[in-house]
Amino acid sequence: MTASYPNTRLRRTRASNWSRTLHRENVVSPADLIWPMFVTEGKGVEEPIGSLPGVSRWSVDGIVAQAKEAVSLGIPVIALFPNTQPDRRSDDGAEAHNPDNLMCRAIRAIKDACGEDLGVLTDVALDPYTSHGQDGLLDEAGYVTNDDTVAMLVDQALNQAAAGADIIAPSDMMDGRVHAIRMALEMNSHPNVQIMSYAAKYASAFYGPFRDAVGSGGLLKGDKKTYQMDPANGDEALREVELDIAEGADSVMVKPGLAYLDIIYRVREAFGVPVFAYQVSGEYAMLEAAQAAGAGDRDALLMEKLIAFKRAGCTGILTYHAPVAARLLIG
Ligand code: PBG
Repeated sequence: MTASYPNTRLRRTRASNWSRTLHRENVVSPADLIWPMFVTEGKGVEEPIGSLPGVSRWSVDGIVAQAKEAVSLGIPVIALFPNTQPDRRSDDGAEAHNPDNLMCRAIRAIKDACGEDLGVLTDVALDPYTSHGQDGLLDEAGYVTNDDTVAMLVDQALNQAAAGADIIAPSDMMDGRVHAIRMALEMNSHPNVQIMSYAAKYASAFYGPFRDAVGSGGLLKGDKKTYQMDPANGDEALREVELDIAEGADSVMVKPGLAYLDIIYRVREAFGVPVFAYQVSGEYAMLEAAQAAGAGDRDALLMEKLIAFKRAGCTGILTYHAPVAARLLIG
């Protein structure tokens, strides 16, 4: 390096704002963002979520207003999660198949209001509907069964697609579910409904506030380690992604986000497919806590994290901070 000095001064291109702008390798725009939202029963209801300061559950009318806000901010997709009433939860999560459940009513209302201006992504997993908070069906020993669960997930996905969902996002980590859902969508006249698979989803301690938001946290006994991935594993994530692409996923997700940038990078390098990061609820909460504790500037920390996802190779990012980020970006 010293041999090339002063021919090479890397500070030269950093010396002014216009030059930093010109040489910037990556950008984040509102078009990169997917905004997750929580829907609840009632009318005119807003329920703040204690462990996610600044995020609320909204009744369907309020969710429609939020969806319109997403459109006006230039955010192309929202992700929907239901807080199912306790009396509609059961061992087998059958409410997931009800064509008039909270999710389906929200999907229809949003599609009516926003049409083609907004994509609606829906999570496929049974945890918002089960009385035990697991993502699938339990056998007598309490093990989450794979193949019986997949059959339930297929029906759940078809129910969401019939209501108007644009992207089906299986978050359950069962084996073979992407293929089963893709086949069912094809056979039921939904050839253009996409699948974004939660391909590399880890058994993470960062999901706590989400489980409060959908009301499954207090119900959950044990953990999800027999289906979600071990945070120690990277090669296995590539196998998960390879399978999901072969099974028909249009895009894949890595979850959580910041602690798994190496996985995002490796997936992008190995497969070149669209990769999305989910900056999950615990990551949101930690950022808000840092700001509240005077440990950092929330907005600056947020934008630095988002550009890190883009630099690692992400096509886009699911984040509860989507509206905050979009407002900062459009100024
Ligand atoms: C449901 C699901 C979870 C999240 C998204 N879909 C929770 C879990 O797997 O327990 C977590 C999202 C977040 O923490 O923001 N299977």
